[in-house]
This record gives sequence, C-alpha cells and structure tokens, in this order.
Amino acid sequence: MSKVVAGNWKMNHGLAATRAYLESFQGAEEVSGVTVILFPPAISLTTARAALGNNTRVRFGIQHIHGASSGAFTGELSAEMAAEAGARYALIGHSERRHLFHETEAETAIQVEATRRVGMTPVLCVGETVEERRAGKLEKVLARQLKGGIGNPAELERITAGDALILAYEPVWAIGTGETASPGDASEAQGFLRERLGELVGAERGRRVPILYGGSVNPGNALELLSAQDVDGVLVGGASLEPDSFLSIVRAGAES
Ligand code: PGA
Repeated sequence: MSKVVAGNWKMNHGLAATRAYLESFQGAEEVSGVTVILFPPAISLTTARAALGNNTRVRFGIQHIHGASSGAFTGELSAEMAAEAGARYALIGHSERRHLFHETEAETAIQVEATRRVGMTPVLCVGETVEERRAGKLEKVLARQLKGGIGNPAELERITAGDALILAYEPVWAIGTGETASPGDASEAQGFLRERLGELVGAERGRRVPILYGGSVNPGNALELLSAQDVDGVLVGGASLEPDSFLSIVRAGAES
C-alpha cells in the first residue's frame, strides 16, 4: 500500500496563514505514491480546500467531531458538517483529546460510528503514557484503546471495505516532546496492533488497515521511521506547520 503522510495542525493557522501555507505547498501535487492528508482547524478547512482547487491530490480531514448529527451541543460540530465541508477523515482519540479534554473510550467508539454514518474514514489514535510503558502495560493499553474504538460488530464488519479505518500509534511521551520512539519501538507496538486487529477482523482484512506512527516526526527522522516494519505512514504535528518541512516528510513517504 502507498504510505500515508498526515499533518495535524492542531490549533494553528487561521484563514490567512492557511492560504499562505497552501500557496507554498503546491509541490505536494507532484509527489506520487503517497497519500497526503491535512487536518487544519475546522474553521480553516474550506479555505484550505479552496486554496488548492478542485483537482488537488491532497486530502483533508477534521481534528474532532461530536458523535451526534445535530443538536444542542454548543461549540461542537458533527460528522455530517465535516463531510459537507470536504473532510474525508476524522482524527479520533488523539492523546490531547483523551488527556486534556478527558474523552473516554466510549466516546471514541461513538465518534468512530459517526464517521461511518457519513462515509468518512476514522483515524483512530492510540498510545501509552510513559508511566504505562514503564509499568509494562503497553500492550494492555493499546489493546484496550483499539477494542474500545472499533469493537462494535458493525464497525468490525465495515473493515471489509477499503479505506474503512486508519490507526495511528502515538506514544503520549513522544507527542510534541522532541522525543521519538525508535523505529524498532514503533515496529514492535505497531506489529502488536496489527496482530490484535487481525484477531478482531481476520488477518487478511487487518493487513489492509494502514497503521501510522506519530510523535515528534520531523524531516530528519521521517525516512527511517517510514521504512520500519509495520509503519505504513506518519502523523505529524509540529513539523507539519511549515510547508517546506512537511513537504520533505511527504517526499520521504514517497521514497520509503
Ligand atoms: P508532534 O505531534 O509531531 O508535534 O509530536 C504529533 C501528533 O500529535 O499527532
């Protein structure tokens, strides 16, 4: 499968910055053999799409959705709204959502289901804290977050379809810290996720799900990480904020 290189801008880049970014990011259109996904802030999504035009190969996603289709949920937005604005992917269970906003596994399951309702692909993020890793709980945490997010039978059934799920392994201790998991550590955790996914949906179907690594990926370490076993792509935060830096990671994706 072709590698996935995704950029999560988090709460950065309003409308003017988004336009300026995408003007400098046109080079991404020429890189083939890699799926490029950008997650701008929701408010910048339509501006981002418009800046690249209709024929863009760059895909877009939303950083967060609420599980309901509509209703009295001040400040939230639904999968339906995100899809209408052009999002094809939704980040779910990002460690900042889990830890800063106290999102539970039950909520990740509802959000995953909401993406199914509108035909978007959930990018389910899982990962252990440093305390959990030190206590030898890595596999337990990953298995719990995976099952918690996609465990319901309708979701498992859906994984027969291509593009039904992307997983992202993002160790909490590596996000925004400059500390990266070694390619070996990433492979080990991602191999475990692949195995567990295979138990849930069958090995053949499990192999079709891209598993990304995220946590302090940068132009200097991207190629090595992208070349590691069971690393099908990367989810990039800080290093996706500058178009040149992100573009060099996109190129590493094509090279690996
Ligand atoms: P980082 O963030 O690349 O800045 O560590 C990754 C993420 O949160 O997805």
